[in-house]
Amino acid sequence: MLDKSPTKSPVNVPNDLAAHWMPFTANRAFKKAPRLLAGAKDMHYITVDGRKLIDGAAGMWCTNAGHGRTQISDAIGKMAATLDYAPPFQFGIPQAFELASRIADLAPKGLDHVFFCNSGSEAADTALKIALAYHQINGQGARSRLIGRVRGYHGVGFGGTSVGGIVGNRKIFGSLLAGVDHLPATYDREKQAFTKGEPEYGAHFADALEDLVNLHGANTIAAVIVEPMAGSTGVLAAPKGYLKRLREITQKHGILLIFDEVITGFGRLGFAFAAERYGVLPDMLTFAKGVTNGAAPMGGVLVRDTIHDAFMTGPEHMVELTHGYTYSAHPLACAAGLATLDIYRDEKLFERSNKLEPKFADAIMSLKNQPNVLDIRTVGLTAGIDLAPQADGVGKRGFAGLNSAFHDHDIMLRAVGDTLALTPPLIVTEDQIGEIVDKVGKVIRAVA
Ligand SMILES: Cc1ncc(COP(=O)(O)O)c(C=O)c1O
Repeated sequence: MLDKSPTKSPVNVPNDLAAHWMPFTANRAFKKAPRLLAGAKDMHYITVDGRKLIDGAAGMWCTNAGHGRTQISDAIGKMAATLDYAPPFQFGIPQAFELASRIADLAPKGLDHVFFCNSGSEAADTALKIALAYHQINGQGARSRLIGRVRGYHGVGFGGTSVGGIVGNRKIFGSLLAGVDHLPATYDREKQAFTKGEPEYGAHFADALEDLVNLHGANTIAAVIVEPMAGSTGVLAAPKGYLKRLREITQKHGILLIFDEVITGFGRLGFAFAAERYGVLPDMLTFAKGVTNGAAPMGGVLVRDTIHDAFMTGPEHMVELTHGYTYSAHPLACAAGLATLDIYRDEKLFERSNKLEPKFADAIMSLKNQPNVLDIRTVGLTAGIDLAPQADGVGKRGFAGLNSAFHDHDIMLRAVGDTLALTPPLIVTEDQIGEIVDKVGKVIRAVA
């Protein structure tokens, strides 16, 4: 934290907020009324003025095991003291191999190889590049089109931005990647409002892929990337049967299917990965966030052996995939990842999330009759609450909700436009779910 001249405050509160240009933040509004955090433990954040906020957002869909897990911080500290950095190109550390094996063991059978990077954005770009390269080496280089989905979010690299379908994230960045197209979003409020779990209506949205195949030709399409549950756009669960149908169509046309599980991975939907919940095996699966409980930056791509093995040809002294990052499989991230997976296993947090899902859904749905609530969607330990936009601007009510939650009601939640997103750590208790719902109700009334 920037602290040019220390104050008398018990924690370092910066007296100059100008230099830090904050990501995905309304900077001017923030700097007038900062939301500054100083600590975190279990289900709570501590603000710089010592208030305790219940975490309704797992930070940002990251801290599935709750905050301040000493098992993780000890592992990071020990690793930092033992091996601060190791080059990941042409050298390796045992922990990276162990972590890859353990992640592959958690994944559906067939997704047996892990390529590490440092974020969800890098994971999306890595998966898209592997798809393009795979078709090249397979003699199908004409397959260069990438298909995303309207309202999809795959991070902020050029690849992820291009296949992403949130207009506000794209429109100021020029023409982005060529040869990208989008499936329609899977949301229809009239047919799906107030659904717990996967909506009955909407499997047919997958058939739009056949239209894109007709339009472009299957032999020009490399891959389709979708989130099993679109989180950043307001929690949209896949309709029943949608992902299966997408799998059938991609398979029929030789198109790779990539699941972006940056949010849904590591228990959010009650399973290690949503692919298991839906019984659908993608060709690649991206993860980040929960892999280290948010304690160190890490992302990665799980890759099917058929794809991985296709690269393992040619002279053995040659690099098989000319891609990677200086911090791929960073020692601190690997240590954090291994300690995190231990906690998930020992505390059975994925099962816990699964068991809590119906109670969480019922509790959140009790907000249905609060003012301005247009829809509530729940899936796993995740909920999106759409509020009616204010007459004077889209997103104003949601932003007011974020501020009211932080400043007046001691809860951290996420606001995306006028949607409030709830996604607590998987250690949340039933009482704490009640507390979250009570506070969110107060927030909704405060911004009515
Ligand atoms: C589905 C999905 N993909 C990719 C990303 C990007 O991850 P990161 O911010 O770590 O780059 C996110 C972030 O929220 C996400 O939800």
